[in-house]
Amino acid sequence: MNNRGRFGSKLGVVLASAGSAVGLGNIWRFPTEVGQNGGAAFILVYIAFVLFLAMPVMVSEFVIGRSSGANIVHAFRKLAPAKWWIIIGFLGVLGGVLVLSFYSVVAGWTLKYTVDAAMHRISGTDPAQTFNSFVSDTWSPMIYMALFLLLTHLVVIRGIKGGIERYSKLMMPLLLFIIVILVGCSVSMPGSAEGLRFLLKPDFSKVTPHVVLSAMGQAFFSLSVGIGCLATYASYFNKNMNLAGSAINVCAIDTLVAIISGFIIFPAVFSVEGVQADAGAGLVFITLPHVFSSAFAQMPLVGYVFSTLFYLLLLLAALTSSISMHEICTAFVSEHYNLTRKHAATLVTLVYLVLGAACSLSFGPWKDYTLAGMTVFSWFDFATAMFVMPIGGIFITLFAGWYLDRKLLTDELTNNGTLKVRGLRVLIFLIRWVAPIGVGMVFLNEVAKLFK
Ligand code: ALA
Repeated sequence: MNNRGRFGSKLGVVLASAGSAVGLGNIWRFPTEVGQNGGAAFILVYIAFVLFLAMPVMVSEFVIGRSSGANIVHAFRKLAPAKWWIIIGFLGVLGGVLVLSFYSVVAGWTLKYTVDAAMHRISGTDPAQTFNSFVSDTWSPMIYMALFLLLTHLVVIRGIKGGIERYSKLMMPLLLFIIVILVGCSVSMPGSAEGLRFLLKPDFSKVTPHVVLSAMGQAFFSLSVGIGCLATYASYFNKNMNLAGSAINVCAIDTLVAIISGFIIFPAVFSVEGVQADAGAGLVFITLPHVFSSAFAQMPLVGYVFSTLFYLLLLLAALTSSISMHEICTAFVSEHYNLTRKHAATLVTLVYLVLGAACSLSFGPWKDYTLAGMTVFSWFDFATAMFVMPIGGIFITLFAGWYLDRKLLTDELTNNGTLKVRGLRVLIFLIRWVAPIGVGMVFLNEVAKLFK
């Protein structure tokens, strides 16, 4: 176990875990959901889900990972020998595979737009046509996806301290710095006040049951919980890490970045007349190029800096998250098949290349290959958010709260009694009762709707 590697510092742990959480989900998905689903009202529901459902899952993952000191499959095997809990470990590996396969496609698009912005090639003339013809091509999106996976691979093969920790310590402060500059650029644009109003006006009438469900899905995806990502990272934590405190820090950073991303995107979008606050991919790859080129026409330097830094921010966020999803599988393959990290990571990257290619083709030559109306890309996305993450979340909290010895849970949280954790009883209550029941209810509700 000693040659598995370890994080070298507490800061490294928080930055790597926050890097896993902060990703594409925060920067384009969250602001869109807020804007469309009731502004500040949605933010309140979201924060409640982060605190009561996703955070307890994160703490449980930390406990499982650190106490076992193993990859997510072996963690369950070690802590629950000869029991079916190992299935939850395999489900985590499957989750990591599914997420990174479709994630690397969107990250590849981000890489292309970063290069284009830096080379001053972002054009405001018909950005929808530019985007659609790029993603429907067979080779170019695939090449960018492969380049992005190569970047991920190069970090993962360097190990925990020299790779994941070192690059997180470099990329996360840079990411936070870029965010500050971008907020400044965005709110100084004309008409930005309207964007802030759109984002923040609380409208409780829009918080329907469906919106509540999407807030939970968003919280899980954004915090990367339910697939053993953070359990894998925690298996490299030192015994003196404060697990509950770290989880709270990670949740706070992730939520702040999500909210601040809204402060970047909407004021900018509203500063250009006639531009609609579109959703998801359209917002980032179609609406924003329009905004950037209009800013560029008026203030060339601001337009250039704004667009280049924005896509760089998105790229950094995607990279720190994809590293953690790659690591779930690399840790498993390397320990299960007794391979070196380099060999295991290479095998995992090859699998991602194949599955990522299938997801990428879903926008081009394979767009008509559908099952129940969904392409390979949509299936991967749907299966993760809808099944793998919630089911993983339920069983991970049940495992930590009920299967594990109560003393082991408390010892892990208090570092064998050497750490005073405020609200420990409340946290254990959330892990044992609130999170599994809450996530279970939301999940069953969704499944019931599928069969209606
Ligand atoms: N947590 C990562 C994100 O938000 C997957 O994009």
